[in-house]
Parts: sequence; structure tokens; C-alpha cells
Amino acid sequence: MGKDVIIALDFKNGAETMNFLEKFKDERPFVKIGMELFYAEGAPMVRKIKERGHKIFLDLKLHDIPNTVQKAMAVLSGLDADMTNLHAAGTKEMMEAAVKGLTRADGTRPILIAVTQLTSTSEERMKNELLINAPMEEVVMKYAKNACEAGLDGVVCSPIEAGKVHETCGKGFLTVTPGIRFADGDTGDQVRVTTPAKAKEIGSDYIVVGRPITEADDPVAAYRRCVNDFVD
Ligand code: C5P
Repeated sequence: MGKDVIIALDFKNGAETMNFLEKFKDERPFVKIGMELFYAEGAPMVRKIKERGHKIFLDLKLHDIPNTVQKAMAVLSGLDADMTNLHAAGTKEMMEAAVKGLTRADGTRPILIAVTQLTSTSEERMKNELLINAPMEEVVMKYAKNACEAGLDGVVCSPIEAGKVHETCGKGFLTVTPGIRFADGDTGDQVRVTTPAKAKEIGSDYIVVGRPITEADDPVAAYRRCVNDFVD
């Protein structure tokens, strides 16, 4: 599984999304469809983007009882997504059910990765509201290990955690990392940011990049800059 740049299509509807994608004439970037776009436009949007030749990461973060997640994952697999995800907090049983649901009759399936603790959750809130007393890093690594043992392919994590995840779960366990900014760009609301080159150095397998590309004056050039710094 090669390194790649995934563009976060954080647009509110299909028209804005297609308008953005049509700027790409020569390449077909790997793209991420999140809850906003999926809830607005549904499965037809996934098929339309697939038909244009893009790989798709469906970022829907499933978390429910194992039986429900298994059935929902079977639907997402049928949409021909290339990557999807769930919350590791749903337990190993839920993650194993997800792998079963995703696996197609021919044995293939999309890449399945887990969200450990959301980066928006502070250690203080985790302790006071979720009653999880272990330090954040220990929780993230334990959830990553659970995901690995359940047969998942990797986790979403900060590039800063990617090295440690590889140490804990092995080099082949994928790290998909958002929070990417160019050294000369705006950080926006992201707190701990890393450049594409630094993410490569740390060992991220995929970087997820939204606004540095979608809000650039020249999105195609910004995408190529990411590929150049991260992949090539
Ligand atoms: O615009 P920006 O590059 O910050 O977008 C990053 C993308 O990655 C968004 O779609 C955001 O929801 C997602 N993401 C994140 N941090 C996480 C998990 C997902 O920024 N921990």
C-alpha cells in the first residue's frame, strides 16, 4: 500500500464538490468524503466521484452495536469505497464485525482504519467526562493495538503519534494523518500541525489535507506541492 495524499472534500453539497474536482484535469486524487457531504448527497455522490476515477476514503466513523456496524459496513463496501473507518471505542467485537461486513464475496475489502481518541478530546475531558484515567498516549496506543488485533489495517492519528503507532503495532499498520499545513500557510483551527515533508519523515502512510488545498488560489498546484513533498 503506497503513500498517498488524500484531499478532504469538506464541501456542503455536490455542486461545490464537482466544481472543485473539475479543476483536476490530469490527475485523479484520492479524496475523503465526510459526514457533511455524505449526509447531504448520499450514495450517488460516492458513485459519481468513483466514476470520475478517484479513490475514496469514506470518513463516516461508525460506532454502534456489532450487528448494526457489520450490516452498515457491507453497504459501504458495496459502494466500492477504497477506505473507511470506525471508532475503536466500539470494542474489538465491533471492529471484528466491521471487518466481516466489509469483506466482499471475492475476499477483497476496503482498507479499514480506526479513530482512537478524537483530537478534539482533551485528556481532562476524557478523565472527567468519560472516566478514563490513563494518560492520552496510553489510551491512543491501547486503542490502536485493539484495532490491530481485531484485524484492522491502521488508525487515524496525528502525525506526531505516527512513529509511536508503528513502534507499537508494526510498520505495516497504517497511519492516516490529518493536521497538515505548509510551513508558510495558515494553521486555521488545527493546533498541532505538521508539514507534508515532516509527516513523510515521521512515517505517515497517508496524509489528509483539506483547506491548504481546497482554499488555495491554485488547488491543483497546492495538491502537487503536497505530493511532491510527501510522496516523491
Ligand atoms: O482543512 P483541514 O486540512 O484541517 O482538514 C482536515 C480534515 O481531516 C477534516 O476533514 C477533518 O475533519 C479531518 N480530521 C482532522 N483531525 C482528526 C480527524 C479528522 O482534522 N483528528
